[in-house]
Amino acid sequence: MIRQVVARALEVAPGHCKIVNVSGREIGVFNINGQYFALANRCPHEGGPLCEGRMIALVQSDGPGHYELTRDREFLRCPWHGWEFDIRTGQSWCDPKSTRARQFHVTVEPGEKLVKGPYVAETFPVSVEEEYLVVEA
Ligand code: FES
Repeated sequence: MIRQVVARALEVAPGHCKIVNVSGREIGVFNINGQYFALANRCPHEGGPLCEGRMIALVQSDGPGHYELTRDREFLRCPWHGWEFDIRTGQSWCDPKSTRARQFHVTVEPGEKLVKGPYVAETFPVSVEEEYLVVEA
């Protein structure tokens, strides 16, 4: 498993998505009321760019002429054929028994807890003399 920093938490506002690339794989990171979820940007129906779809509410009805919208912006409608998925679980609501969008684990971590990478850029001491910046190389 690869752990990769993909964005600052503030870059993904509530009710929005940011599509990121992790080792060549496109993943949509969603913010639902401060909780973060991640789904593959590949629809399990026919491979459409699922995370480019609209975030919508759940529509429920107890009979003709009556409907209720709940869980605003917690569902995702695929832009290709309109299949809808629960962003929290990846579950399809068009074929709920067998179709699920692939999920990935997302954590929010403070910068100081992240592990340093293996590469270190070469550095040089810098001093200020009068009005000039001087780099020693
Ligand atoms: S490819 Fe997403 S609904 Fe068909």
